[in-house]
Amino acid sequence: MGKFSPVPGTADIFPEESARYRKIEETGAEIFGRYGYGELRTPTFEYTEVFQRGLGDDTEVVQKEMYTFEDRGGRSLTLRPEGTAGVMRALLTTDVMNGVEQRVFYHGSMFRGERPAAGRRREFHQIGVENVGRIAPELDAECIAMLYHFLQEIGIKDVEIRINSRGIAEDRVESGKALREYFAQHIDDMCDDCKVRLEKNIWRILDCKQENCRNIIKDAPDYRLYFSEDSRNYFKTVCETLDALQVPYIIDPMLVRGLDYYVHTVFELAHTTLGSSIAIAGGGRYELFLPGQSRPVRGVGFAAGIERLIMVQDALNIKLDDKKSDLVYLVSLGDEARKANIELAGILRRNGLKVALEVENRSMKAQMRSANNSGANFVVIRGDNELAENCAVIKNMTDGTEEKVSIEKLYDSLV
Ligand code: HAM
Repeated sequence: MGKFSPVPGTADIFPEESARYRKIEETGAEIFGRYGYGELRTPTFEYTEVFQRGLGDDTEVVQKEMYTFEDRGGRSLTLRPEGTAGVMRALLTTDVMNGVEQRVFYHGSMFRGERPAAGRRREFHQIGVENVGRIAPELDAECIAMLYHFLQEIGIKDVEIRINSRGIAEDRVESGKALREYFAQHIDDMCDDCKVRLEKNIWRILDCKQENCRNIIKDAPDYRLYFSEDSRNYFKTVCETLDALQVPYIIDPMLVRGLDYYVHTVFELAHTTLGSSIAIAGGGRYELFLPGQSRPVRGVGFAAGIERLIMVQDALNIKLDDKKSDLVYLVSLGDEARKANIELAGILRRNGLKVALEVENRSMKAQMRSANNSGANFVVIRGDNELAENCAVIKNMTDGTEEKVSIEKLYDSLV
């Protein structure tokens, strides 16, 4: 890897692409705003305990994927692998623990030491929301509906939404026991990861992707039968509310999600262009413990991977509106015209136009080539004659026509 390449799994995002990130972020802000969400910006790194306790020591992210380092005072810090834990830490300063609802969204870099692949980076960007402080199945459904709405707005229409219920801690005792008994009988035929999961986190077996394991998993007992009636009703209401909101979904009992803080509703979204194993977004209801807190923070939320959203948009050939056509290119013939055009560029820009201009005194041909490459819609040409007459020649790059206008009328001719 060359000295000047970014670290594998990270990337430089150049203007054409960053405009697409911005569009997604702005659309999110607009849509989430309609549901009462405001933006929260939290630090990119936190004390390591926030993630250890927040996500759970046994999660794969905490065990294998965190970028952890010591600051000068010897405190252990970690680059955020996800947004929820930091957002909860920030919201502790509000009244969420007393049941006052908070609705926030966020976007930014997240860091996970995963093996880089298509759609899998070590620094990636999420856009997410958290609805904190209140518990109701209708809120879970609204959250999924809002994600669906947002995806529609960015042109990603036919998503596959899988949902499931994880129950609450009490629900998992008997159901976990039933699963453990079943998988213990078959464990010799299962993969090494599942052997560890049998001891450490039985639920993660359910979403193992290995073919052998899948054959065994499909005959596992239906653990949901062990859930309390309240929990089953909770999930039923989530489904009914989604029906009322006309959000299509599939119930997938094998969906467990990779983070341990989830209770009740979990969901994950995929798109056929990327295949069902690459999630474009995921989330659910959670109870998240923070260091020094005996009670969890309760909420529901989701995060979508912006790189993955852009991959789907690419596959669907969704492009940004071509903003370049607003560009005006100033061509200067001679020193005086060049100086006058620097001044003119300032005036036009202050009046809201996008302006590029010649600053080097090159030939007309070279300047016109740059103007062409820039994608400008109009070229404004000035030389000594135009300066003397206080006018300019405007060339319309779309139809090739030229027109001489006085400087007073120049702005109006360009908008
Ligand atoms: P997550 O499923 O770990 O959930 O991540 C959410 C999304 O981030 C994924 O669906 C995927 O699109 C994207 N993503 C994750 N890892 C990578 C990666 N290495 N490269 C590119 N994209 C990636 C969470 O992070 C939870 N905090 C979501 C949540 C919010 N749950 C409740 N509230």
